[in-house]
Amino acid sequence: MDKQLRLDKFLADMGIGTRSEVKQYIRKGRIKINDQICKTPEYKLSPQTDAVFLDDRRIEYNKFIYIMLNKPRCVVSASNDGRSQTVIDLLGEKGRKDLFPVGRLDKDTEGLLLITNDGDLAHRLLSPKKLVDKIYYVRVAGRLTDEDKTAFREGIDIGDDKPTLPADLSVLASGEISEAQVCIREGRYHQIKRMFEALGKKVIYLKRLSMGPLILDEDLPCGSFRELTEQEISLLKNYKTEEL
Ligand code: URA
Repeated sequence: MDKQLRLDKFLADMGIGTRSEVKQYIRKGRIKINDQICKTPEYKLSPQTDAVFLDDRRIEYNKFIYIMLNKPRCVVSASNDGRSQTVIDLLGEKGRKDLFPVGRLDKDTEGLLLITNDGDLAHRLLSPKKLVDKIYYVRVAGRLTDEDKTAFREGIDIGDDKPTLPADLSVLASGEISEAQVCIREGRYHQIKRMFEALGKKVIYLKRLSMGPLILDEDLPCGSFRELTEQEISLLKNYKTEEL
């Protein structure tokens, strides 16, 4: 049997309004399920088979949701955490229980995080066999040299079984504090920090700019989120990764 959903939650999840707004629509008799007005916010419906209407406009059930978050610092990339605020907490009313972040950014890393309930897509982007380019902006303490670029290109021993795969370091400014863009194709724990650490440099700021074909929207302030456009969803679904 289909998973059943409370009517108020269904309407809020489909973006009709906040939980309290949709409760008002329901109580005012503006919602029909099939051809019956339903005034009970707790009513359990079957989203796949019941037809829901607001003022006779059909509310289609959108099973999958794709959200771009510009993650701020001090928030953990998890669905729930006993102590810290999570990226799902940031979504407020949009925070459906089935949502999860696609991969993790460290608590102090900012930038692009995809949040979805589409397990297949997440698997394709996260599988260790698939090589998905991820581009980061980084500030490090110390100068960046041509040797550093070569080390990134050749792979770096960061203490795991194998060195990192070839990565790209492009230096934007080199000085006491240097700035660079880094492109990696894996997603090892603290990977970028550990790569710089192995070269004797400390990362002081890290922000993800892109993941595969998905690029952080520059107009999205840190801590804000929006749903992906149809075009972004289609780019992600049609993205062909190289495989190991
Ligand atoms: N590499 C890191 O060190 N941290 C991140 O959050 C992402 C990549």
